[in-house]
Amino acid sequence: MASRKEVIQVAASAGESVADDLVPEPLPGEVIEEARLRPRNLAEFKGQAELTEHLSILLEAARKRGRPADHILFAGPPGLGKTSLAGIVASEMGVGMRVTSGPSLVRGGDLAAILTDLQPGDVLFIDEIHRLATNTGEILYPAMEDFKLDIVIGKGPTARSIRLDIPIFTLIGATTRTGMLAGPLRDRFGFVGRLDLYPAADLAGIVMRSATILGIDVHPAAAHQIALRARGTPRIANRLLRRVRDFVEVRADGVITPQLAIEGLEVFGVDTLGLDKVDRSILEVLCVRFNGHPVGLTTLAQSVGEDPETIEDAYEPYLLQAGLLERTPRGRMATSRAFDHLGLDHLGIAATLQAIG
Ligand SMILES: Nc1ncnc2c1ncn2[C@@H]1O[C@H](COP(=O)(O)OP(=O)(O)OP(=O)(O)O)[C@@H](O)[C@H]1O
Ligand SMILES: [Mg+2]
Repeated sequence: MASRKEVIQVAASAGESVADDLVPEPLPGEVIEEARLRPRNLAEFKGQAELTEHLSILLEAARKRGRPADHILFAGPPGLGKTSLAGIVASEMGVGMRVTSGPSLVRGGDLAAILTDLQPGDVLFIDEIHRLATNTGEILYPAMEDFKLDIVIGKGPTARSIRLDIPIFTLIGATTRTGMLAGPLRDRFGFVGRLDLYPAADLAGIVMRSATILGIDVHPAAAHQIALRARGTPRIANRLLRRVRDFVEVRADGVITPQLAIEGLEVFGVDTLGLDKVDRSILEVLCVRFNGHPVGLTTLAQSVGEDPETIEDAYEPYLLQAGLLERTPRGRMATSRAFDHLGLDHLGIAATLQAIG
C-alpha cells in the first residue's frame, strides 16, 4: 500500500494541495473542491500585501525584459499559500510548471531527467525543498546559477564529466523551515517570500470568496466567526467553512448565519480560538504537567505524541501568535492566557502541586 507520504507526493505532482494533519482530511469530493478554491492569479490571492506587491514588481520586470523570473523561495507554515503562489507565478508569466518535491528526488538522476525535459522559461516547483538530498542539491546549484548540468559518464579511472546546457527556468522552492535549508541553496534564490499567518479580516475575505465559488450562502458576520477560529490559515478556513456548510444543510435551511456558524463549529469541537486536540494537549502539558515551567521541545513533543518538527512548523506559530505560548532560552512556556483559556487557575495549580509535594 502507498504510504501517506507517497500519496501526498502524487497529489502534489498532480498540482493538488497537500493535506496537513491539523484538521480531518478532506472527503474525496472535497479534493476537487479544494482545487477550485486555489487562487489562480495575484488578484485572486488575498492578503500578504507586502509579499504580493514585491512579487508583482518582480514578475512585471521579468516580463518587460522578456526573461524568466529569478528563482523564488516561499517559506512559511503549512496551508498559507506557498503552492498556490508557485502556480500563480507560472500563470502570470504564461509558462508551464513542473511539480516535484525534495523527498521524491532521491537520486541525482531524477532531477537531471526533469531539468533536461523543461521548456525554456518553465517554472520548476520543488515542494519541501529543505528535504532535498545533498547529492541532488549539488546538481541543482550549477543548474540554478549557469543553467548547466554536470554529468559524469563511466566509472573509475575512465570516468569523465561533461556539461550540458539546459533551458533557462525559474526554480520555485517551498519550505516550512528556512532554517533547515542549506546555506548555498538559500543564497541562490533571488527572492525569498515569507508568508505570515493571516489576520481574521483577510481570512473572512477568503471564506467569502470560497463560499461564492462553492455556491454557499454565508453572512459576512458568519464568515468572520469562521475566520476567528481558522488559526490564521486559509486552508483551515476553507475546511471549517465546509463543516459549517454540512451543519446548516442538516440542521437548518442551508444559510450560514453567525449563530449557526458558532453552533456548527462547537459541534465539530473547534473552540473559540480554533484550537484542535493537539494544540490543547500541548497547552495542557505545559500548564498542568509542567505547571507553567519551561519545557524543552523534544520533551514537549514526546508528551503529546508528535514529532518536534511538526510541533515547531504546524502548531507553534499559531500558539505563539495567539499569545498562548512563549519561547524562552530554557524552553517553551505556557502564558497566563493559556491558563485562562483552559479554565485553569495558574496559582491554584502551583499551590495544589506544592501541597501534593
Ligand atoms: N491568499 C490566499 N487567498 C485565497 N485562498 C488561499 C490563499 N492562500 C491559500 N489559500 C487556500 O488555501 C489552500 C492551501 O494553500 P496552499 O496549498 O497553497 O498552501 P501551502 O502553503 O502550499 O501549504 P503546505 O505547506 O501544506 O504545502 C489553497 O488551496 C487555497 O484554497
Ligand atoms: Mg504546498
